[in-house]
Amino acid sequence: MSTRKILLIGSGFVAGPAVKYILRRPENHMTIGCRNISQAETLANQFPRTTPIFLDVTIEKVLDDAVSKHDLVISLIPNVYHWLVFKSAIKFKKNVVTTSYVSPAMRAFDEAAKQNGLTFMNEIGLDPGIDHLYAVKMIDNVHSAGGKIKSFISYCGGLPAPEASNNPLGYKFSWSSRGVLLALLNSAKYYQDGQVIEIPSDKLMSSAKPYFIYPAFSFLGYPNRDSTVFRELYKIPEAQTILRGTLRYQGFTNFVKVIVDIGLLNDSQQDYLEPDAPDITWRDLLAKAIGSPSNSESDLRRQIASKITNLSEEETERILKGLKWIGLFSENYANRQGTLLDTFCAALEEKMQYAENERDMIILQHKFEIETKTGENETWTSTLLEYGEPRGTSAMATTVGTPCGIAAQLILDGIIAEKGVLAPYTPEINNPIIKALEEEGIKIIEEKL
Ligand SMILES: *[C@@H]1O[C@H](CO)[C@@H](O)[C@H](O)[C@H]1NC(C)=O
Ligand SMILES: *[C@@H]1O[C@H](CO)[C@@H](O)[C@H](O)[C@H]1NC(C)=O
Ligand SMILES: *[C@@H]1O[C@H](CO)[C@@H](O)[C@H](O)[C@H]1NC(C)=O
Ligand SMILES: *[C@@H]1O[C@H](CO)[C@@H](O)[C@H](O)[C@H]1NC(C)=O
Repeated sequence: MSTRKILLIGSGFVAGPAVKYILRRPENHMTIGCRNISQAETLANQFPRTTPIFLDVTIEKVLDDAVSKHDLVISLIPNVYHWLVFKSAIKFKKNVVTTSYVSPAMRAFDEAAKQNGLTFMNEIGLDPGIDHLYAVKMIDNVHSAGGKIKSFISYCGGLPAPEASNNPLGYKFSWSSRGVLLALLNSAKYYQDGQVIEIPSDKLMSSAKPYFIYPAFSFLGYPNRDSTVFRELYKIPEAQTILRGTLRYQGFTNFVKVIVDIGLLNDSQQDYLEPDAPDITWRDLLAKAIGSPSNSESDLRRQIASKITNLSEEETERILKGLKWIGLFSENYANRQGTLLDTFCAALEEKMQYAENERDMIILQHKFEIETKTGENETWTSTLLEYGEPRGTSAMATTVGTPCGIAAQLILDGIIAEKGVLAPYTPEINNPIIKALEEEGIKIIEEKL
């Protein structure tokens, strides 16, 4: 078979499984482009038939030069830059794959992609990605059998495995904490029994509710941004309840609520955190953040406790212990980053990394309340539980990178042939991806409760 040239842009931790999948086929050659050439080299060195290059997508000539020499582009860079890749891909008539939600700037290329006979496939990682595949599959099965989806609830969590949840948040960071923390300040919207429920950002954490999957997991779920758009995207106009949410371990949301309430996620510049400001201890920083005249631990604890509402004494004590564990009452100097948010991120990232032998976990569950053609009520679940390999590939990387690699290969093979700016919302696009995922051992368990 003739040589295929694939350009992968970005070398983040989810890239590995995509590269590995694609390079299984001997005709595939891959160029790994990154702003930081040494990161591209590190990734390329792990695989045959790879070439690392410097690639900054904001430099048009550099991007065009790279795109023009390849058959397909995989873009794993931050969402806001994909449109630059789309623009170049239109110019040189190349197909593109991303794992990101289709933004308006990306959607704007739909007509141009169709006119040029190109496939720009998106939302093909885990969430979005695998979640769409199995939602659309169940919905299509139910509709084909003459049934209705009365309720669709879907929760997903990227978490430490239970034994690695050994810190006050029951959470760990495998990459930048900033995006994870900022997501805790989103507002959310979903359908519940036909009504639109809106959760303002300051109520997101307190809206968390227990969500039962298996007895040994104590999950809490809270809604994730705007779920109402999925009534149309998933073609379930009959559904009265539609909610997509995030799962965390018990204890996480109360802890975060306190962190928010004491202002540690504040994104404004603070004079005392500027690089040229004098050194400041965490205890002094905390006193400033909460407006406490005293920096003694007992005063700080008292002030924080007074801001905590609706939690038991025991839970309040647990959270104060957690703040101490992070080092907020200590005499250590803070690593000043301009804002409270970034300074706090730096402290969390230091404390909350995976240890070398620890593994992560992915849990995804869709729950469907169905009315069959004959009027029976049924509850179905689709559940994915994946663990990472200690010292090896994380579950997050496998479940994001593998579907992305599969989609790229299916486009190269002409099996995904639809044109335009696509996402996995139809059985025609999804079924071959599901089949290939199952061959990789990534399989959702679908069962009737
Ligand atoms: C590039 O990545 C390497 C690690 O792979 C890192 O040590 C280095 O600081 C990075 N360089 C820049 C300019 O970010
Ligand atoms: C964030 O900090 C700024 C500056 O100290 C302050 O004016 C603002 O009210 C804070 N924002 C919130 C949401 O507390
Ligand atoms: C505290 O709980 C009560 C009753 O559950 C609720 O009405 C109130 O909004 C809660 N207050 C806060 C600040 O969450
Ligand atoms: C199914 O559930 C609906 C309420 O959602 C109820 O009105 C109906 O009687 C149930 N059907 C059966 C067969 O139990």
